[in-house]
Amino acid sequence: MLSKKVEEALNDQIRIEAESSQVYLSMASWAEVKGLEGIAQFMYAHSDEERMHMLKLVKFVNERGGHAHVSELKAPKHDFNTFQKMFQELYEHELFVSNSINELVHITLQEKDYATHNFLQWYVAEQIEEEALARTILDKINLIGNDKGGLYLFDRDVQQITVESAAKDTEA
Ligand code: FEO
Repeated sequence: MLSKKVEEALNDQIRIEAESSQVYLSMASWAEVKGLEGIAQFMYAHSDEERMHMLKLVKFVNERGGHAHVSELKAPKHDFNTFQKMFQELYEHELFVSNSINELVHITLQEKDYATHNFLQWYVAEQIEEEALARTILDKINLIGNDKGGLYLFDRDVQQITVESAAKDTEA
């Protein structure tokens, strides 16, 4: 059984994952309109992943005798200026999510809720991978600079930069 405090914190995280999905959906749409097809596909896939993160939390809360809430979401912005700035924002957004997961883990320890603490370890590992992925992409963008050919190749290849390959890069 979840304590009220843990249930509320999990519901907050459900909202944050849903908002993350919306943020990446908005990035996907912006990239698509700009003709950055590969980046758009990457962002659409990322948006789906965030929805999966949200659903996993919904199921967990309900299984543990709580009630997962579907909340009103903050609208993301529609314009991202340049793709470089957009990926910088993605990285900063993931740092924000990691912080929020860490806070949540902290609350489960305070509440001595070891089942939820255990469940959240998946999210802790996922955030390490997501941060690594975002950093890998930013490194590649820095290498490209303003080179048009580089952007063409980046847009073509960005879909292959998955969480798994970024994790491998970090190990290497
Ligand atoms: Fe669900 Fe990208 O964190």
